[in-house]
Amino acid sequence: MELTDAADPRVDVYSRLSDAALRRRQDTLHGIYLAESSQVVRRALAAGHRPRSFFLAQRYLDSMADVFAAHPGIPVYTGTDAVLETITGFHLHRGALAAMDRPAPRAPAEVLAGARRVAVLENVSDHTNLGAIFRSAAGLSVDAILVSPECADPLYRRSIRVSMGTVFGVPWARVGEADGRGRAAWPGVLHGLKSEGFTVAALELSDTAIDLDSPALREHDRLALVLGAEGPGVTSETLDACDLQVKIPMASGVDSLNVAAASAVAFWELRPRA
Ligand SMILES: C[S@@+](CC[C@H](N)C(=O)[O-])C[C@H]1O[C@@H](n2cnc3c(N)ncnc32)[C@H](O)[C@@H]1O
Repeated sequence: MELTDAADPRVDVYSRLSDAALRRRQDTLHGIYLAESSQVVRRALAAGHRPRSFFLAQRYLDSMADVFAAHPGIPVYTGTDAVLETITGFHLHRGALAAMDRPAPRAPAEVLAGARRVAVLENVSDHTNLGAIFRSAAGLSVDAILVSPECADPLYRRSIRVSMGTVFGVPWARVGEADGRGRAAWPGVLHGLKSEGFTVAALELSDTAIDLDSPALREHDRLALVLGAEGPGVTSETLDACDLQVKIPMASGVDSLNVAAASAVAFWELRPRA
């Protein structure tokens, strides 16, 4: 279907894509997420997620014809670059977008079942870092990811794209949200990890942190690695809830690594060896 009016209500879900805070509210409200780029759309479909509609510039129609044929009845919206750009707020140069049904949130117990290495992300608010951490986790033997209440949305389109679609494969769950009475459960949920046999280690540069290559670290069968936000790092309440702190020693007067870079180094060093 060709769009001629940027205010066409059928494509409301594709509007103002650059506003991350608005998208988080809107996507959750509508029970959707947006897959961006032809490759990511294909990966989302391969993961078994259901499309509600496709949205793309005319020049990409042919390259996605097999996808549309496999999903008869799902609307395909197209239009000139100018109309599409007015709707989305940016130039569409990565091929298709698709509005996908947001999968039901997974229970922490489900994602932790059988896991030996878990990443716990506290307040990581940058979608690029979040996506990069998922990609490293997928490629470096991390079995599951838990995200704190204030952590950004792994299913925001930029996180998905930077993760190369690995957010569809790595089991993840949001943990520690306040209960019905507004009582915060973060970071108390970390104690639950300990009772499941995990050693909970905060990755943080501190005086009490041990080096990442300390042999004792490799002896833990189940290990949860807590990573903090750019700027503040892991909060003091969360550090108190952890069993230990681990650092990647820095050289040349450099303060710290970017959180996604730190995650990749730690995931590799602490991978299960047996
Ligand atoms: C940019 S750092 C925050 C640094 C914090 N402002 C500080 O000065 O300690 C963001 C997160 O990346 C991880 N990180 C970065 N560099 C690290 C290192 N050298 N050792 C351990 N963790 C590191 C930690 O989880 C940290 O919370």
